[in-house]
Amino acid sequence: MAKFQPILTRNYGVPNSRSLEVYRERGGYQALAKALEMGAEAVGAEVKKAELRGRGGAGFPAGVKWSFLPPNREITYLCVNSDEAEPPTFKDRTLIENDPHQLIEGILIAGFTTRTKIAYVYMRAEFHRPFHILQKALDEAYKANLIGRKIMGSDFSMDIYIHRGAGAYVCGEETGLIESIEGKRGWPRIKPPFPAVAGLFGKPTVINNVETMCCVPHIIREGADWFLSIGPDGSKGPKVFAVSGPVKRPGVYEAAMDITCRDLIFGDDFAQGMVDGQELQGVLPGGISMGILRADELDCKLDFDDVRKHGLLGLGTGAAVVVPKSVDIRMVLLNLARFYAHESCGQCTHCREGTSWMAKIAKRIADGAGRVEDLDLLIDVSKNMGMMPGLNICGLSDGAGWPIRSVVEKFRGELEAKIKAQPAGAAERAIEGINPAYYDGAGKVGAV
Ligand SMILES: Cc1cc2nc3c(=O)[nH]c(=O)nc-3n(C[C@H](O)[C@H](O)[C@H](O)COP(=O)(O)O)c2cc1C
Ligand code: SF4
Repeated sequence: MAKFQPILTRNYGVPNSRSLEVYRERGGYQALAKALEMGAEAVGAEVKKAELRGRGGAGFPAGVKWSFLPPNREITYLCVNSDEAEPPTFKDRTLIENDPHQLIEGILIAGFTTRTKIAYVYMRAEFHRPFHILQKALDEAYKANLIGRKIMGSDFSMDIYIHRGAGAYVCGEETGLIESIEGKRGWPRIKPPFPAVAGLFGKPTVINNVETMCCVPHIIREGADWFLSIGPDGSKGPKVFAVSGPVKRPGVYEAAMDITCRDLIFGDDFAQGMVDGQELQGVLPGGISMGILRADELDCKLDFDDVRKHGLLGLGTGAAVVVPKSVDIRMVLLNLARFYAHESCGQCTHCREGTSWMAKIAKRIADGAGRVEDLDLLIDVSKNMGMMPGLNICGLSDGAGWPIRSVVEKFRGELEAKIKAQPAGAAERAIEGINPAYYDGAGKVGAV
């Protein structure tokens, strides 16, 4: 098989890759010129034909999403999701930092196609460096008449602004993001109406991820058939994966989606395996919301479908965090649970109470005061708090429940063994309100 040639990351490492001059020398903005000649409908049809699925987590086809916009609309807004708050996801940040004009070109083509006049890049608060890099590139593009009035001499005019968030995971959820841009607390909205009909300021709105936008110029320049020639059915085009944890080469890697999790972690062109003889215990391959793979499940393909056969909720952000054997699996459970308890916006009872209940149980287990039945309780809570059972407004609750259930189900043996190895009576004493950290195992409380 021919070696995969980077597409979205092709300018990484090229000297001065962020400048307009270098981007243009390497073929940049040709796709925009082509799109303006093709016309909005033809561009939309090409993106739809390419089967470009959103790279922000849910994998919804971008061309189909754009076609939901009401035909008789007066105004369209485009929001580009650069919140990237899902641990351990950092692919969008590198796309902006290394090649900001690729993103701008994608936004312009998507804006032209959807008749957008104003696009907002919603960027998480901590992204200081990407903010300055993108702003500089926007300024350059404005000066070169690539953004603003009558772009490239055409009738198409559009502005692009960066809107900086205040740093909340839930603001990455598309309607939380809209509320935040409107200057309100980032509380997700009940749907319907969907943003395509009533989004930002109540007007038709498209929301797409940074990487999704970055794919668009390549589809227009090379054609949908070329895009369809990359990757397995249902998961077409290039994908940027991020790898973190105790691997030899943590970082960002681009591949077609027929790559396996094993190749991504151990492949010579990728993360090159574990450091210092560490042994792999599991991998959370789609950010943390999608669930975990055990060491014997690494042949799972990282596409939109195969992951489900391995009990994952989806491909998610494609950011893999590697958990070594040296990490106590109870701490993995606790870290997951407390993240969601902290990030739940609190609007919905099942999410607010469910996430904090799971965090309390996980803490009890991690403190060495768990009960075997706590594992069933965790599964029970996680199954009854999501959007899918129809109890909540947004997908944070599903993303909170799924990984807890996944870790408990896949590491049940290890968790039970740890619970059974606790000092006799630890769980009962914890339930009676005695902090096990102050129990010396010999009946004396507060002896530590
Ligand atoms: C809690 C939560 C956080 C999210 N965070 C992000 C994010 O940081 N970036 C992103 O692109 N999508 C995020 N999403 C998904 C968005 O709601 C939306 O589906 C996505 O931006 C659409 O873009 P796409 O179709 O191009 O993937 C999040 C969803 C949820 C439920
Ligand atoms: S599901 Fe959770 S995060 Fe989403 S709106 Fe409800 S309480 Fe907020």
